[in-house]
Amino acid sequence: MGEAVGGRGSTAHSPPQPPMAGTNAYENETDMTSSLKAYRAAILHSLADPAEVGVERSYEYFEDGVLLVEDGRIVEAGPAERLLPKLNGVEVHEYRNALITPGFVDTHIHYPQTGMIASYGEQLLDWLNTYTFPTERQFADPAKAAEVAEIFLKELLRNGTTTALVFGTVHKESVDAFFAAAEKLDLRMIAGKVLMDRNAPDYLTDTPESGYADSKELIERWHGKGRLHYAVTPRFAPTSSPEQLELAGRLFAEYPGLYMHTHLSENRKEIDWVKELFPERQGYLDVYDHYRLIGPRAVFAHGVHLCDAECRRLAETGSAVAFCPTSNLFLGSGLFDLEKLEGHGVRVGLGTDVGAGTSFSQLQSLNEAYKVLQLQGKKLDPFKSLYLATLGGARALYLDERIGNFAAGKDADFVVLDYQATPLLAYRMQQARSLAERLFALTILGDDRAVLETFAAGQSVHRRA
Ligand code: GUN
Ligand code: ZN
Repeated sequence: MGEAVGGRGSTAHSPPQPPMAGTNAYENETDMTSSLKAYRAAILHSLADPAEVGVERSYEYFEDGVLLVEDGRIVEAGPAERLLPKLNGVEVHEYRNALITPGFVDTHIHYPQTGMIASYGEQLLDWLNTYTFPTERQFADPAKAAEVAEIFLKELLRNGTTTALVFGTVHKESVDAFFAAAEKLDLRMIAGKVLMDRNAPDYLTDTPESGYADSKELIERWHGKGRLHYAVTPRFAPTSSPEQLELAGRLFAEYPGLYMHTHLSENRKEIDWVKELFPERQGYLDVYDHYRLIGPRAVFAHGVHLCDAECRRLAETGSAVAFCPTSNLFLGSGLFDLEKLEGHGVRVGLGTDVGAGTSFSQLQSLNEAYKVLQLQGKKLDPFKSLYLATLGGARALYLDERIGNFAAGKDADFVVLDYQATPLLAYRMQQARSLAERLFALTILGDDRAVLETFAAGQSVHRRA
């Protein structure tokens, strides 16, 4: 192919990674019971944040690569030339004109809003009252919740997303339905019951005590079961009383590994409202800070209008922000300043925020993210995009020991992307001269059609028709 290969990989130095402990056909020719699987295509994954190590050292690429998987875990990613001769008859699944990457990580999304995506005309607060609250009301019905959870997970997997941080509704049944559906597919998912006890219709409110008790029940049932994790989920400061936030903060500290998931500084009117509701606090983030809803595994969606002091506080507490470009544009919320947040050292992941977001596709989120940065005179390098959608998201969620790239032993959550998914994409790829160019075109032109196959814990969970 004669292409210059950037980053680390088959033509650059790549330290050998030991396969996982235990025997497999790769190590032991005589073991015919091995579940070792091999996937051959171009392989690309992030190693680090380009902002920290520079673009060239941020990724590893094998033009003709093999990904080895066993028992739901990554054994190794490497050049076909080196790995194929060692496979001892293991079947190799080959993909042409395809790129294998880690599964995408969506750090903020609402499953109950699947059916109201693309609802016309409003900004945040009116959008909530007009479309969101009536839609979420339907999730008091467990059958409705089960139906939407299934549609939602299918859609995530069709788009190559294998891990997401997910809002339920105020109904605990909505979270049972979601986790039950995710468990069946052995997905690594994080979700929680929404806490909201004021400034919302009566049909959609809990109380500080019932919200606490219901959340606790769900934590006991689901947190740490298989690959599932629980997130304490106050909707946003305006819909929780101080008493509810107090109990939410207590709950967040009560169990190891819990998440905290909420919204922060998305819309100007919302921010003014928070000032009115909490005049004694220094600002929006300070409300959450005061109730100890901050720290590692606290994830704040949006953060479009944060001041420097808030960014510093997020960084020093190890909290994360979900950048949701399609939503921020759709609701007219504003332009996310990625450079500012990262300059302060804040962990940033990428979110779709469906149903305010307009696509389940992280490729489409990256397309819009690129434009959000362009409107601010900034650039988004394609390898930074890859990082945000995979390892960066995993870091934001403190899951980078388990997912985000192809380091040995991590969960085998990966996607096969089709460079020829559409006539235009195929034609554009013919003109592309470098991996960077191909990757960039994939993030701008790609969507669910570009996802040929999705694997979770080593199992195929979506194959494009
Ligand atoms: N703020 C409070 N609730 C919501 C929601 O459902 N979506 C978005 N985008 N922002 C919110
Ligand atoms: Zn949201």
